[in-house]
Amino acid sequence: MPTTKVTSSSGSYAVVCAPGALARAGSLTSRRGDSTSTFVLSSTKVWRHCGRAIAAKIPGRAGRRPILFDDRESSKNLETVEAIARQLVRAGADRQATIVAVGGGVVGDVAGFTAATYLRGVRLVHIPTTLVAQVDSAVGGKTGVNLPEGKNLVGAFYPPKVVIADPTLLATLPHREYRSGLYEVIKYGAIADRELFGFLERRMSSLLRRDPAALGWVISRSIAIKARVVGEDEREGGLRQILNFGHTLGHALEAATNYRVFLHGEAIAWGMIAASMMALSLNRLPLMDAFRIVRLVASVGPLPKVPAIPSARLRSILAGDKKSRGGRVLWVFPRKIGKTEWGVEAPWPLVEKAVRNLPEIMNEAQNGAKRADTKRGKT
Ligand SMILES: NC(=O)c1ccc[n+]([C@@H]2O[C@H](COP(=O)([O-])OP(=O)(O)OC[C@H]3O[C@@H](n4cnc5c(N)ncnc54)[C@H](O)[C@@H]3O)[C@@H](O)[C@H]2O)c1
Ligand SMILES: [Zn+2]
Repeated sequence: MPTTKVTSSSGSYAVVCAPGALARAGSLTSRRGDSTSTFVLSSTKVWRHCGRAIAAKIPGRAGRRPILFDDRESSKNLETVEAIARQLVRAGADRQATIVAVGGGVVGDVAGFTAATYLRGVRLVHIPTTLVAQVDSAVGGKTGVNLPEGKNLVGAFYPPKVVIADPTLLATLPHREYRSGLYEVIKYGAIADRELFGFLERRMSSLLRRDPAALGWVISRSIAIKARVVGEDEREGGLRQILNFGHTLGHALEAATNYRVFLHGEAIAWGMIAASMMALSLNRLPLMDAFRIVRLVASVGPLPKVPAIPSARLRSILAGDKKSRGGRVLWVFPRKIGKTEWGVEAPWPLVEKAVRNLPEIMNEAQNGAKRADTKRGKT
């Protein structure tokens, strides 16, 4: 079965990615003799859609007594971690316990942080069920929860023992969530993989139909990139920052709208367009490459509109971002498709202009795509 190895400071782990990988969940999650101390952590919603069927593949009684919690972003907090930890104590979970996180990024982050801290750390296995979780959050060891003051402010680097990424688990994912994950896949192509980027340009319509072969290929390719980057720079001291392409403005858009308007990937989509236009203006990215990034993002479909955000507010959110240093906003820019630079400062008027022009740039890209379709006789 196709497996990617991820190296981390606390040992390496495997990410098994293939349709049908779930069938191996039993052998991959249980250590001989202690399967009774496996605990499935999931959300009520995921459980209803696919969690129950997933847990049925895990030997022993674990799948019959899952610990379920709310996976809304607003419940990704310490209160939920405490409630889960108390249930683990009552269920007799000891240091040999294995926590199996079944769900999207919220479940993975909460379950991961619980695994990192419960009895100072128990074994963790991720079975991601969203596209974002398969290509991103389940790989790389970041776990954490939110505080009222901001997102992911309490957390730990805690690598899992194994990740089982089975694309067939995405069948029940709502389309908007699925599309949101595709933007993160575009990010991988733009920052590190020309071939992936080209594939996405050619096969976006197959991917939007969730064609299994195309989907399987882009998921494993994305995982390989994430594995390589975090293997080289686990703690985000350098190279790992390239994964934040689109995230500087993306996070600010999410925060400015109180996480109510955009799904994460959608905000990142706008962020990638803005960063590409800024890089173009600074002569750091060729015109053709900026054009291809914008066009590919636009080809995934419409995005929620960017609301008017007062300039001072946007500036203060950006300066307060975890990635800023002493109030200086540092950007991640593509140099060309597949190559990235990070830690770049940009003059404020340029940032403002890029944000202001977002709707127009998107319109142009969508109209351009329509014209091309008409030319090919598609409409
Ligand atoms: N740790 C990291 O490195 C990392 C990286 C990226 C994102 N994140 C975090 O991940 C979270 C976002 O994750 P997400 O995009 O996976 O969203 P999510 O976990 O909120 O899941 C999205 C929705 O889909 C539902 N769902 C999940 N799997 C499903 C399935 N197979 N069928 C039907 N419905 C399903 C969930 O119940 C939820 O309502 C954020 O909190 C973000 O901070 C963490
Ligand atoms: Zn992201």
